[in-house]
Amino acid sequence: MSEILWSGLGLVAPLRARVLGMPPQHVTGVSIDTRTLQPGDLFFAIQGDRSDGHDYVGAAFERGAAAAVVDEGHAAALKHLGTLYIVHDVLKALEGLGRAARKRSRARIIAVTGSVGKTSTKEMLRKVLSDAGPTHASDKSYNNHWGVPLTLARLPESARYAVFEIGMNHAGEITALVDMVRPHVAIVTTVAPVHLEHFANVEEIAQAKAEIFSGIVKGGVAILNRDIETFPLLETAAKASPAGYALTFGADPAADASLVEFNAAEDFSRVSARVLGQDVSFRLGAPGRHMAINALAVVLAARAVGLDFRTIADSLASVAPAQGRGARETLWLDGDDPLSRFLLIDESYNANPASMRAAIDLLGAAQPTGAGRRIAVLGDMLELGPTGPQLHAALKDDLLRNGVDLVFAAGPLSRHLYEALPPEKRGAWTEAAAALQAPVAAALRAGDVVMVKGSNGSKLHALAAGLKGRFAVAEPQKSEVV
Ligand SMILES: Nc1ncnc2c1ncn2[C@@H]1O[C@H](COP(=O)(O)OP(=O)(O)OP(=O)(O)O)[C@@H](O)[C@H]1O
Ligand SMILES: [Mg+2]
Repeated sequence: MSEILWSGLGLVAPLRARVLGMPPQHVTGVSIDTRTLQPGDLFFAIQGDRSDGHDYVGAAFERGAAAAVVDEGHAAALKHLGTLYIVHDVLKALEGLGRAARKRSRARIIAVTGSVGKTSTKEMLRKVLSDAGPTHASDKSYNNHWGVPLTLARLPESARYAVFEIGMNHAGEITALVDMVRPHVAIVTTVAPVHLEHFANVEEIAQAKAEIFSGIVKGGVAILNRDIETFPLLETAAKASPAGYALTFGADPAADASLVEFNAAEDFSRVSARVLGQDVSFRLGAPGRHMAINALAVVLAARAVGLDFRTIADSLASVAPAQGRGARETLWLDGDDPLSRFLLIDESYNANPASMRAAIDLLGAAQPTGAGRRIAVLGDMLELGPTGPQLHAALKDDLLRNGVDLVFAAGPLSRHLYEALPPEKRGAWTEAAAALQAPVAAALRAGDVVMVKGSNGSKLHALAAGLKGRFAVAEPQKSEVV
C-alpha cells in the first residue's frame, strides 16, 4: 500500500480550505494531471496555459482521486462529483501545502538550478542519495511555479533526502521558488546564454540564477561552477547569502572539487578528482565530460549532506544517462542481420549552445565500427534571440574537430550551419524535422554512430522515436554480446 502522505483533516489548514463532503481518511499522493493521477491522490484543479483543471475534476474522481481542490467559483457545479476542498486560489493552496510539507520535513534538502544540467544533476543526486536512504526528488523537469510546489506537496514525512529542480525564465522567479524549498544545499550547475530573449546578457542570467542562494537555510552550503566567466558574480552572491561561503567545482585546479583526469570510454567515463583535499576516483555511468563536471557538484552536495566518498563513488558507477540526455540504443538496419547494427545516441531532450557542444563532443568520443561514420542529426536551438544564426553556424568547428562525417539538419536556424559545412559533410537539410527522418534512414550504414539533438520545439525527439520504431531493437544473439 502507498504511504499516507496527508490526513484528510490535516489538509484543511495548509490549504486554507473549507471542505464540502466527507473528508477522506488520508491521501497517498498529489496530482495536477488526470493522465497520471493514481487512486488515492488529491487532485488540484490548476488553471494552466491551455486548459483549466476544473474541467477535469470528473475525470479525476473516475480515476480514483480521494478528493479535489477547486476554487469557489466552480464549487457548486462540481460538488456532486466527490469531496471538495474549496479554496480562493488553487495554485496558492498547492503552495500552502508545499510549505507545510517543508515545515514538517526532517529531510536534508538540495536545490539545483543552472542554464543546463539541472535534470541530469538532480537524477544523479536521486541515485546517490537513494542508495543512502529514502529520497524524494522532482519528477521530470518539474521546476516552475507549479512544478516546485507540487514536488514539495508530494514530499513524504519519511524522506531523509530530497532534491528539487528549480528553473526560471525571468528574474525574480527563483527567489519565489527557493523561498518555498529552503534548501540546505543549493547548486548552480552552469550559466550559459540560454533564454537570451528575456535577458540583456549572460551576467543578467547569472544574477537570476544566483537568486537560489538567497533561500539557503542558515548554515547551509552554496555550490557553484568555477569554470564559467560569471563565477565571480555568483561567488559574491553566495558569500552574501545565508550560506556565507561557496564550495566550487570544475576543471579549475582551485576548485574545491576539481577534475584531475577524465577518460571517456564508450558508454561510461573514468573520473579522477581532487575533492576537499582528498583524491577521489570513480567510474561514472553517464558518459561525457559535461556529466563528469555535473558529478563533481553531486559529490560536493552529497558530502555536504553527510555521505562519505566511498558510498558516493559506488553509486555514481551505476548512474545511467536519462532518456533524451545521452541514452544509447543499439538498433539493427536489418533485424535478421546481427552485423547490421548501428548506435543511436538520443540527445533529443532540448538543446542550447552549451548542451549542443557537449553532445557533439560525445559523438566525437564514440567509436564507429567497420565502415561506420559519425553522423549528427541536428535541429534548431530556439530562444537564442538575434545571435541565433551565428550561434548555429559556429557549431561547424565543433563538428569538424570531433570528426563528424555527415550532418543532417532541420529548421531555418540550422540552415546557417548546414550551408557553412563543406559539401561532403552535408547529408540533407529540411524545413521540418518530420521530413528529415526518411533521408537519415536511407543514409544509414552498419557501424554508424548517430547523435540526434535539437530544442524541444524543433521536434527531434519525434525523429529519434521514429528511428527506434523503424529499426529493430532486437537483443543481439548470445554470441554477439561482447
Ligand atoms: N553541464 C552540462 N553542460 C552542457 N550540457 C549538459 C550539461 N549537463 C547536461 N547537459 C546536456 O544538456 C541537455 C539538457 O540536460 P538537462 O535535462 O539535464 O538540463 P536541464 O537544465 O534540466 O534542462 P531544462 O531547462 O530543459 O529542464 C542534455 O542533452 C544533457 O546531456
Ligand atoms: Mg530539466
